[in-house]
Amino acid sequence: MGRQILVTGGTGYIGSHTVVELQAVGFDVVIIDDLSNSSAEVVDNIEKISGIRPAFEEFNLLDSVKLEAFFVKYSKIDAIIHFAAFKAVGESVEKPLAYYRNNLVSLMNILDSMSKYKIQNLVFSSSCTVYGQPDQLPVTENTPKKDAESPYGNTKAIAEEVLRDVVKVTPDIKVIALRYFNPIGAHPSALIGELPNGVPNNLVPFITQTAAGLRKQLSVFGDDYNTPDGSCIRDYINVVDLAKAHVVAINRLLENSNTERYEFFNVGTGTGVSVLEVLNTFEKATGVKVNYQIVARRSGDIEKIYADTTIANTVLGWKAETSLSDTLLSAWNWEKKIRKIK
Ligand code: WQD
Repeated sequence: MGRQILVTGGTGYIGSHTVVELQAVGFDVVIIDDLSNSSAEVVDNIEKISGIRPAFEEFNLLDSVKLEAFFVKYSKIDAIIHFAAFKAVGESVEKPLAYYRNNLVSLMNILDSMSKYKIQNLVFSSSCTVYGQPDQLPVTENTPKKDAESPYGNTKAIAEEVLRDVVKVTPDIKVIALRYFNPIGAHPSALIGELPNGVPNNLVPFITQTAAGLRKQLSVFGDDYNTPDGSCIRDYINVVDLAKAHVVAINRLLENSNTERYEFFNVGTGTGVSVLEVLNTFEKATGVKVNYQIVARRSGDIEKIYADTTIANTVLGWKAETSLSDTLLSAWNWEKKIRKIK
């Protein structure tokens, strides 16, 4: 077995796809997840895809006693990818304390463990939400960060500050933060994908659930923005392409190719796409009409954001490859699989 990688939140949406890609290139993966937003069945499905069952420990990272016992049991961890966090924007507005405690204390416990157990390498799951509504587009890694639109987004911005300050005084650790744009789609096997709890907040799972007949109608939150068709623009990135960016980042750290001990990269496609364009692309790719109506804007939404991916492409050596059409088709195939639709 290859070098051992701890993936926190490894049964989650992006985490599970990253475990599969790590295993595909020979890494030995261990997952910690509290299953608060995923299920243990994901471990079975990872094994079905890769043929390798990752080790899995179920607990929350706030439990320092269990975390201590974990690192005593797994004493050969070479690097950590830290996904574990609460991530529902709307919920974070209602439960800010739960978000700040869970998302920040879990990161601090991971950093404490890295120092104690001499683990040098960390890849952190960050978000383009740290940019707020940028004044200029596309956003580069040097675009000034703005007040986040939600406590969730703020936990990502604060986490990046914590990482920067800790790396400064901890010469033995190096960190790469990946700022995701909008992850969508599912693994081509349709064995893993996005499984939102309850009514989906995000656009693509709401589209696929409407197409599957679980939702009566998609609400498009506003078509009066200053964009070509009036609907908001985002940078939708295929979840497998995003997972591969984590493998590239892990290799960069393990091979000591990083030029700074704290690096951050925009991980997007570089193309901005509107809500209505996503809808039209989905219908064309799947042949399924989606019932929708234009409604009022959703509070907290920014008008448009998409990435300048030059640094990720040239420095990290990673580029998104999957088309929006193929990505939306993968999301539909996943929806059909879990709803047992032919
Ligand atoms: C995309 C666009 C909506 C639902 C959030 C988080 C971000 C990341 C991704 C975690 C917007 C519109 C949506 C619907 C709609 N999450 N929309 N009808 O808000 O860009 O980003 O999820 O890391 O941090 O902020 O994604 O998919 O919710 O919305 O019209 O039913 O689709 O208004 O313009 P968002 P989203």
